[in-house]
Amino acid sequence: MQTITTIKALRGCIRQWRQAGYSVAFVPTMGNLHAGHIQLVETAKQKADKVVVSIFVNPTQFGVNEDFNSYPRTEQQDQTALQEHSADVLFLPSIAEMYPQLPQTVISVSELSKLHCGSNRPGHFDGVALVVCKLLNIVLPDLLLLGEKDFQQLTVIRNMITDLNIPVELQGVTTVREADGLALSSRNGYLTDAQRLVAPMLFQALCCVRDAVLTHSDNYHHVLAEQKLSLQQAGFEIDYFNLCRSSDLLPAKSDDQHLVLMIAAKLGSTRLIDNICFNRQATDRTDYLNNKYYA
Ligand code: PAF
Repeated sequence: MQTITTIKALRGCIRQWRQAGYSVAFVPTMGNLHAGHIQLVETAKQKADKVVVSIFVNPTQFGVNEDFNSYPRTEQQDQTALQEHSADVLFLPSIAEMYPQLPQTVISVSELSKLHCGSNRPGHFDGVALVVCKLLNIVLPDLLLLGEKDFQQLTVIRNMITDLNIPVELQGVTTVREADGLALSSRNGYLTDAQRLVAPMLFQALCCVRDAVLTHSDNYHHVLAEQKLSLQQAGFEIDYFNLCRSSDLLPAKSDDQHLVLMIAAKLGSTRLIDNICFNRQATDRTDYLNNKYYA
């Protein structure tokens, strides 16, 4: 695996691949790689000849009181993991390389970016859209892979790609979970041992409300209220717990079929997010109802 730190060198490398007729998949990350990221790399390898992974802790997507400075930076460990999983190139730019000037351009998937996580993190999705757009312009990949755990991010980027006619295929990759159901996230490392024991309740609550929607359709609100209360009693501070249609993340109506339940909650100072997508009309519900994580 080659590690490249400049845009010029990366473009040169990709130009050579293109001349040789190779297809390119791209996995953008902020590092501190875990099995969820590796799943993205493995999926990318199955779909394209060459795989570029970027590690860049993007300052424009962090709010002033957020964890930009303390965000875990584990470059050495990440390089070893990417080497082991045979990524072709690690793109590791500096802030000056990515932002040679204070950006004058705003990319805002406006309405969607204000909902859910956007209402508590103003400007966050504009920062994500800007950096992903810049990275796509640098790498010019055939395929972009993003995790479904950040479902709103995935939806924002999907809209940006459509609106700006960016010639790339976007693939969302299923969330990887710990054995107890907790979605893998770099921020899990902030949890104390006691909080780590409680954290899987988020996914259990999602499963419970999903099953209520599947079983009782519109009459799931009391289960949602009960789950919110249990989470609060266990120490979570809930930002939102919403049932949406998966296409545009607006509130689900009773005839919407493709749904996503989304949650964000703070445990101490750590903000965790998770979601599950499901189909109201699923013919085989055993997939959902036998979910091994749902105690
Ligand atoms: O999901 C992330 O790690 C980041 O938001 C991304 C997509 C790499 C943009 O900085």
